[in-house]
Amino acid sequence: MSIPTDDHRRTPHGHSLTSDDVCPRPSPLPRQIAEPAAPPIYPASVYRCGSPDEAARLLAGEVAGYVYSRDGHPNADLLAEKCRELHQAERATVCSSGMAALALAALAHLQQGQHVVVSNQLYGRSTQLFAAELPRLGMESSEVDTCDLPATAAAFRPQTRLLVVETITNPRLRVCDLAALAELAHARGALLLVDNTFATPVVCRPIELGADLVVESLTKLMSGHSDVLLGFLCGRAAAWQRVVATQSTWGWSTSPFDCWLALRGLGTLALRAERAGANALAAAQYLAARGEIAHVDYPGLQAHPDHALAARQFAGRFGNMVTFSLKGGRKAAERFIAGARQIAFCPSLGDLSTTLSHPASTSHRTMPDAARETLGISFGTIRLSLGIESAAWVQAALAEGLNAVG
Ligand SMILES: Cc1ncc(COP(=O)(O)O)c(C=O)c1O
Repeated sequence: MSIPTDDHRRTPHGHSLTSDDVCPRPSPLPRQIAEPAAPPIYPASVYRCGSPDEAARLLAGEVAGYVYSRDGHPNADLLAEKCRELHQAERATVCSSGMAALALAALAHLQQGQHVVVSNQLYGRSTQLFAAELPRLGMESSEVDTCDLPATAAAFRPQTRLLVVETITNPRLRVCDLAALAELAHARGALLLVDNTFATPVVCRPIELGADLVVESLTKLMSGHSDVLLGFLCGRAAAWQRVVATQSTWGWSTSPFDCWLALRGLGTLALRAERAGANALAAAQYLAARGEIAHVDYPGLQAHPDHALAARQFAGRFGNMVTFSLKGGRKAAERFIAGARQIAFCPSLGDLSTTLSHPASTSHRTMPDAARETLGISFGTIRLSLGIESAAWVQAALAEGLNAVG
């Protein structure tokens, strides 16, 4: 079959190229002269198999290798291995987003008729996964304040299989006792699943505290540059039976380029987290001393209700997120956001730069006003994600916003 050709596609002898000429044929990879210092990107969606027998053995997982990139590819494996190591987990996989990782954890472990106990302070979409999506598949959930251990124990049913919490909650930055929650779940035949997005393994490794499964949105501080959307799930081997098949069947696979970017970002995670954490403490102390502010949430402040637990559980680190509520409500929040011109209003977190969000109009906008107010989130509430600028820059940028509140 001939393909349409232009003059520039003609060979020196005037023959037209055909698809026979242009389709790639099996050929050896270019000879590698030296090991590359940065990992290559493997964009292939499919890999050549040596024989039917080899294909069958690869697909059955009996030999290591790749067939189809929805099932796995080198860049996903490199990233998953790094995340596994950072969490000291036995197994890990990377997924197309943090939500995909959470859905994977839930669907790999739940059957119709089973029940989940979830924190009443989960990220908005996570709440919707358990309250609106899983019930359509016949799985029920109950929300509870997981900082309250007796209330959490009382929420369990005989059918409960999972307890789901966040290490540091969004946006009030509450911290619950992971070791106690793991014990409580295990005593009732359930697994503890922890969303560690706000902490990262720099602040907390929940598996060491007894968690069975950990998810993180790699989109955030882990990759750190607001240029990828990815998540990961890691956990104990005993909690991994269905994970591989569930991920491939539901199609929560990853882009090789995104995995490559995230792995590059991870190389600076410790440095970024250290600087951003120091900026968060300095920003929280500065904000707490300002008269325009009703309250500041940061687990590193002694006034925070979970400060003692956080200090013990996180070995002196408290993360890069700070939330505060302005006395003047919505008007004051609007003025602050307009005045703090150096701080981008971006409803995400974990970027190199300091960013802010307004939970009442973003992550918590679908929550009824009364429920939101019970959690202490008002229209005057601002959530800051501290970046790696100097502490002086951050303070000046916040002062601009506060001066505009009037
Ligand atoms: C705590 C938490 N978990 C999970 C997610 C979902 O991650 P992704 O946006 O990568 O799906 C987010 C997103 O903001 C989050 O804040």
